[in-house]
Amino acid sequence: MTLPNQRIQPLDVFAVNHCDQLRGQFTVPGDKSISHRSIIFGALAQGQTRVSGFLRSADCLATLRILQAMGVSITDAGDELMIDGVGLDGLQKPKQDLDCGNAGTAMRLLAGLLSAQTFDSTLVGDESLSNRPMNRVIKPLTAMGANIDADAGTAPLRFRPPTAGIQAIDYTSPVASAQVKSAVLIAGLYADGKTTVTEPQKSRDHTETMLRGMGCEVQVDGLTVGVTGRPILLAQNIQVPADISSAAFLMVLGLCHPDADFTIQNVSINPTRDGVIKILQAMGGNLELHDVREQAGEPVADIQVRSSQLRGIDIPHAWIPSAIDEFPIVFIAAAMASGQTTLTGAEELRHKESDRIQVMLDGLKLLGIDCQELPDGAVIHGGQLSSGLVDGHGDHRCAMSFLLAGALHPGLEIAVKGCHNIGTSFPEFFGLLESMGMVVEQPVPVITVDGPSGVGKGTISALLAEELGWHLLDSGAIYRSLALAAMQQAIAATDEAALVQLAESLELTFEVSDEMGTQACLNGVVVNDQLRSEACGLMASKVAPIAAVRAALLRRQKAFRRAPGLVADGRDMGTVVFKSAPVKLFLTADAAERAKRRHKQLQEQGVDVKIRDLLVDIEARDHRDSTRKVAPLVPAEDAWVIDTSDLSIDEVLAQVMQHLTPHLERWQANPSGLDC
Ligand code: S3P
Repeated sequence: MTLPNQRIQPLDVFAVNHCDQLRGQFTVPGDKSISHRSIIFGALAQGQTRVSGFLRSADCLATLRILQAMGVSITDAGDELMIDGVGLDGLQKPKQDLDCGNAGTAMRLLAGLLSAQTFDSTLVGDESLSNRPMNRVIKPLTAMGANIDADAGTAPLRFRPPTAGIQAIDYTSPVASAQVKSAVLIAGLYADGKTTVTEPQKSRDHTETMLRGMGCEVQVDGLTVGVTGRPILLAQNIQVPADISSAAFLMVLGLCHPDADFTIQNVSINPTRDGVIKILQAMGGNLELHDVREQAGEPVADIQVRSSQLRGIDIPHAWIPSAIDEFPIVFIAAAMASGQTTLTGAEELRHKESDRIQVMLDGLKLLGIDCQELPDGAVIHGGQLSSGLVDGHGDHRCAMSFLLAGALHPGLEIAVKGCHNIGTSFPEFFGLLESMGMVVEQPVPVITVDGPSGVGKGTISALLAEELGWHLLDSGAIYRSLALAAMQQAIAATDEAALVQLAESLELTFEVSDEMGTQACLNGVVVNDQLRSEACGLMASKVAPIAAVRAALLRRQKAFRRAPGLVADGRDMGTVVFKSAPVKLFLTADAAERAKRRHKQLQEQGVDVKIRDLLVDIEARDHRDSTRKVAPLVPAEDAWVIDTSDLSIDEVLAQVMQHLTPHLERWQANPSGLDC
């Protein structure tokens, strides 16, 4: 499966299924940071720079298109890019705004470049990028003489030529950021004399390595890096190694998978980027580096990954800058580890493509992991991941992390929305997972309708299914059918083993026809009326609390999830059976009102009972249902609760349809019905 281009309205919800074994040799795409720089410095060099292994991701292609828009000829020969350098002063005024899309690296590095040009230009970005802090580059660049306009320190960034040219400075950055460092150094290429940047901790050094490789004088003294301005950059052949940030996803997948032993080939292990290896090894991860070698000035290795028992650690501050992009997947490793993992000193994570501390912790909590958010990090207690629908908030690394969490165990179902930016850094992500044996799914949408009896959920579910043209699961009918079959075969409600066997072999179908509605057929016989009998209901209430019976009926219920969609009516649809459903409803009503409704129903059937007796019955049953150990009747955390006490069926349906409208618009925009 290939990812849709991020500019096309994406199919946005995905899930990845577990596969039993992970073996083989795999390759992840080229390094994003090096790819961006290969275009920028290739453009500024004299002669033709050839780049192999370039990451053809949305982010890097944004940089490529921006340099093309400024007159640089870039030819794509398939396995290589050829960049015809124009020299430091050869860029031309672009005709339009320059669109960085989701790419922070493009915007901040190009800010350094555009600050020094003799023409006006504007950098724009997508919604996420337009909210990321740009003052961190605007401030030092302005001190160098740049003319930059930006409202509230965010994109769009408008550049006018520097009035008195760009001046060299010695800048002390408050953050360890390669983007800030690079922006200042790139502007410094246009200044006379030496520009230096001093950081609180060392950030990735690809700018320094590439500039030096092209003949620029670069001095490194501890945490200070300097370039001498007005160099002549000479074209180079650049081989981009595989991106350790993408490899990190496979590392955690393999370490946390029960049966993995595979190798990721040719990965950059630059010491300013290898924090994730250090962290995972300190957690007990079995990662081995083979054939460590050098490629175009960058150290690379093949990394062997084997299943491991991870344990929580306190992540040392010194490792944070060299693992800054890998924390989303490290958080998944922490959730799978025994004990507690603590991260502090990483406030930077709040300024990435999303607030990664918040997005990851919200998702982990939803998946049942005990964790606490800190202003500058998190405390994560390893535990058991459970199924659910989480939101990656359009952050490629958060989305990929949650998707892989869903592949760690059989039976886990983690649906992830907000996946549309995965192609910004890892366009081959899904294809690679499929080549490793995993199945990538776009889950069929499910609306769950839970609640006690007498709230109208059966009627609402049937009307909804009809309205939408979706399948309907009446899970109560499944329990009642089991009860009926048990009564027919004289199996006692206490005979757990026989009930489980019966549940597994039950010959049950639901046939839907326009004239007859839904017909439940047990062993080929229509049993609608028997299912509604009091005796059957009583037996169902005895067999339903048995955990083994519920487990035996689980697969049967899940099989109802078929395109174009499913409305699932029951008591644990949103909390157990379809935990990853994108829309969950929970209907409630006063016990007294429900007793009244039931009384009316029974009277219509000629059954004479007192409302007071029905009420006592209902209250007792509510208590039993909501306090039972297995699948208690409670609203899912993400359910929308509707009190139907004072509402007619039509009014409830109208409210539900209104709630569904935004979802329906998206489902309809995608006729396959798969976009949740
Ligand atoms: C990058 C630097 C890092 C990193 C980003 C790529 C680069 O950002 O998060 O993905 O290529 O220079 P900061 O410089 O903001 O830490």
